[in-house]
Amino acid sequence: MSPWLTSMAKQPDRRLDELIDLLTENATVVMSGTKIASQLRVPHSTCWELIERAREWGADVRGLPGSGYQLVKVPDLLTPKTIRQSLHSGEFGCRIHHQYQVDSTMNEAGRLAAKAPHGTLVVAEEQTAGRGRFGRTWFSPRGTGLYFTVILRPKLAPAAAPVLTLLTGLAVAETIREVAETAVDIRWPNDVMVAEKKCAGILVEMTAQPERVEHVQIGVGVNVNQTAIPAELAAEATSLCRETGRAFSRVEILVSILGRMERYFDLLQERGAAPIVARFGEISSYARGKRVRVTDGPNLLVGETVGLSPEGMLLVRREDGRTESILSGQVRPE
Ligand code: BTN
Repeated sequence: MSPWLTSMAKQPDRRLDELIDLLTENATVVMSGTKIASQLRVPHSTCWELIERAREWGADVRGLPGSGYQLVKVPDLLTPKTIRQSLHSGEFGCRIHHQYQVDSTMNEAGRLAAKAPHGTLVVAEEQTAGRGRFGRTWFSPRGTGLYFTVILRPKLAPAAAPVLTLLTGLAVAETIREVAETAVDIRWPNDVMVAEKKCAGILVEMTAQPERVEHVQIGVGVNVNQTAIPAELAAEATSLCRETGRAFSRVEILVSILGRMERYFDLLQERGAAPIVARFGEISSYARGKRVRVTDGPNLLVGETVGLSPEGMLLVRREDGRTESILSGQVRPE
């Protein structure tokens, strides 16, 4: 097999990224197939296949017979180059693994985690087996939502790790409030809500020794530009586009979340959980004074929220006056 074909077979998504970046940089001119093939170091036939794939992923590439190809509109694809151009975080996003289709960015991050540096970003255009909490699936259609996982190596004891969910929720909620100019709420611990429907969720998985966390994978799913939500989710879930009637740049949302996550993470490492828990208490209407039902498997707890513990657990006062600290569970308004 020629070296060109070998590298194409091994790295099809990298080649597609390179094509998208090349067409984006040359969007004002028509590029000949020969020039594209030579810049990408692939045979002409591969170049044509890549252009077809780019179109399948939403790039509007016009073919002009006899002259070449031109990008009609820059696509909202999350190529590493596009992300880096807007990224203002330091370590978060220091490495970017971009895939067009993956089972789950959590699984992919798990495959990479042992060797990945702190701050590695795994991002996909589509997930075929996106995962939510409690074994649920996460609706992950191509090109419309944000699906990513950040691999971190925090200096934390395993018992302190739940605050990572809260700080990520803050980063997502603040981004949505700024970018979509809409009111946001966080339903403890991980649901970011707009108009009382969920538009983003967070899933944290970790590998730990008894005394310290080795690495965590923080997965974030944001419903950004979905215009349709499956019927079985429609009562509970929404997207930013459905709520505002506008489409958003996923890159802008991604880099904003990463930047804020990093600032909150640095704050956690410098000053501990207290400022994060306090900020969460200011933003989340669920932190205090809310009548809730908390389910965890077969267990049900009904009561009123009375604040957060120093580690970020939800404090719920039962009817009988006793207060329970909730570490995990599904919280719903009563
Ligand atoms: C939840 O609210 O239940 C958590 C949802 C987390 C979804 C994200 S999408 C990116 C990452 N990959 C996954 O498979 N899940 C998380």
